[in-house]
Amino acid sequence: MTKPIILTGDRPTGKLHLGHYVGSLKNRVFLQNEGKYNMFVFLADQQALTDHAKESELIKESIGNVALDYLSVGLDPSRSTIFIQSQIPELAELTMYYMNLVSLARLERNPTVKTEIAQKGFGESIPSGFLVYPISQAADITAFKANFVPVGNDQKPMIEQTREIVRSFNHTYKTDCLVEPEGIYPENEKAGRLPGLDGNAKMSKSLGNGIYLSDDADTVCKKVMGMYTDPNHIKIEDPGQIEGNMVFHYLDIFGREEDKSDIEAMKEHYQRGGLGDVKTKRYLLEILEQELAPIREKRLEYAKDMGEVFRMLQEGSQKAQAVAAQTLSEVKSAMGINYF
Ligand code: TRP
Repeated sequence: MTKPIILTGDRPTGKLHLGHYVGSLKNRVFLQNEGKYNMFVFLADQQALTDHAKESELIKESIGNVALDYLSVGLDPSRSTIFIQSQIPELAELTMYYMNLVSLARLERNPTVKTEIAQKGFGESIPSGFLVYPISQAADITAFKANFVPVGNDQKPMIEQTREIVRSFNHTYKTDCLVEPEGIYPENEKAGRLPGLDGNAKMSKSLGNGIYLSDDADTVCKKVMGMYTDPNHIKIEDPGQIEGNMVFHYLDIFGREEDKSDIEAMKEHYQRGGLGDVKTKRYLLEILEQELAPIREKRLEYAKDMGEVFRMLQEGSQKAQAVAAQTLSEVKSAMGINYF
């Protein structure tokens, strides 16, 4: 019996942080370990280049880092195919054919692309590769005939775009060779978008408000101790607020089932007054470290041999390429451009 196919990936433009971890990595490892899917996970370096064209060094370094992050959280190359986008030329070729099925106006309407264009301050100089990246993302997804694509909510427009391309392609070329994918979105709104340590709605590299899977224990401790809590909770006896208090927000996300009653008691005590921030932070640190310490240890172990990490990516890329080549050949036959 063939298993449903899952494809997902990240742009390698830095290391992965706790937001990535609770928002997607944990779920991927869970899906992998369930064993019900054929899973592909990839580093979208070409997509990263669409807005970092002059920073290929950063992208190379990030590929190493994100691969280490993947391995250390438990993505396992013997169970999942882990690969690099740019090493599969078939993806670029598919993109070329799909581009003819998507209007410029349709690309300009993509809400995620719109937001990013505003954020990145491209002005009048939007790289055309950037505008087209949703089409290249459709190539990533369809090349593997993915049935499911687990992604953040911000990726909904990409999945929608992919589904349109699949319908348009299959209809235009009277084929059923492409598969319409479904997105899998975070169930838990809170975990789906982890706020930054400073209380900003999003943890992100550019805001410098994150904890990284690669941070050492001291760094994590310092970061937790500096977390945003309740600015009006000055003396320990003062009643404190738990809404908008990052320590309690993180406790809700990272606390395990068996911690729940302690957390509830702490919330109550904090609101009543008499519980200091340092105590709540020490407790959160303990909970985080239970999860982070083993990941950190594994990461250091894998980092000793980056040659091996890149060999793993090379092997994954070879496997992935064979799959993409098969799809490309079907696509070309459907289009009638298999001339010889
Ligand atoms: N756009 C995704 C992000 O920014 C990365 C990505 C590229 C992706 N191609 C994909 C995700 C295909 C899922 C499927 O994180």
